[in-house]
Amino acid sequence: MGDEQQCRTACKAARAAGAILQEWAHKFTVREKGPANLVTEADFAAQNVIVEMIRSEFPDHGFLAEEGLDEAPERPYRWIIDPLDGTSNYVHRFPYYGVSIGLEYRHQIVLGVIFDPNRDELFVAERGRGARLNDQPIRPSHVTSLCQAFVVASLPSAISSDHPSVRRLLQVLPHAQSLQRTGSAALNLAYVACGRMDAFWSSSLKPWDVAAGSLIVTEAGGNITRMSGAPFDPMLPDLLASNGSALHQELQDLLTADLA
Ligand code: IPD
Ligand code: CA
Ligand code: CA
Repeated sequence: MGDEQQCRTACKAARAAGAILQEWAHKFTVREKGPANLVTEADFAAQNVIVEMIRSEFPDHGFLAEEGLDEAPERPYRWIIDPLDGTSNYVHRFPYYGVSIGLEYRHQIVLGVIFDPNRDELFVAERGRGARLNDQPIRPSHVTSLCQAFVVASLPSAISSDHPSVRRLLQVLPHAQSLQRTGSAALNLAYVACGRMDAFWSSSLKPWDVAAGSLIVTEAGGNITRMSGAPFDPMLPDLLASNGSALHQELQDLLTADLA
């Protein structure tokens, strides 16, 4: 079970990081870590504040954070952090990005916190205790078929037009009522959990993109698997999240159809 102090600390750290992102929004400079993979001073400043706040309360925990921190992975508790998910959106002043903080205990995610500083929305899930948005319980949508669904895909940052992710997207496109690519995997998962999106998939995400959001989806009552339907593993880049209805199987069939 996620413990109360851990949850309080994660929420405080996510809000503090969110405030830092908004402060930096007027003055950051951008660097490319790889082709079209952006990072700013805000990513580092937000990560530093999260790690300092958590470490001061839990000095014997491990950390895995996007901006170059992989510390004590063998410890039973490990925090998995994306200080700014949606950097590309942030850089272009498209207000859809957030802070993602997950906590695993013996390789199982027990706590997930995602904060959207633009809407002041805090999504929280503790294993076995449900999921909340600003302290109110959340549930996924009731949509059951793709022709009525709002679905979202994440693609890698720089890919060719014949990349399998693009081909999977095209496979779904004619069947979905609305198909989007939004730029923040963490917020997408939070949105599936609270019913604003019906499904989300990707084959290119990292543990820090999905650790918190995966628990928020399942605790809200949604479903998360690999695209084949196999059990989800946050350490693997293979995710299909949905509201848990028949939509999940419909998408699974299209996403794993022979793409040749
Ligand atoms: C990115 C976002 C995006 C996804 C990319 C991620 P970042 O994270 O989650 O939605 O498509 O693959 O890298 O780089 O903004 O933290
Ligand atoms: Ca990310
Ligand atoms: Ca990031």
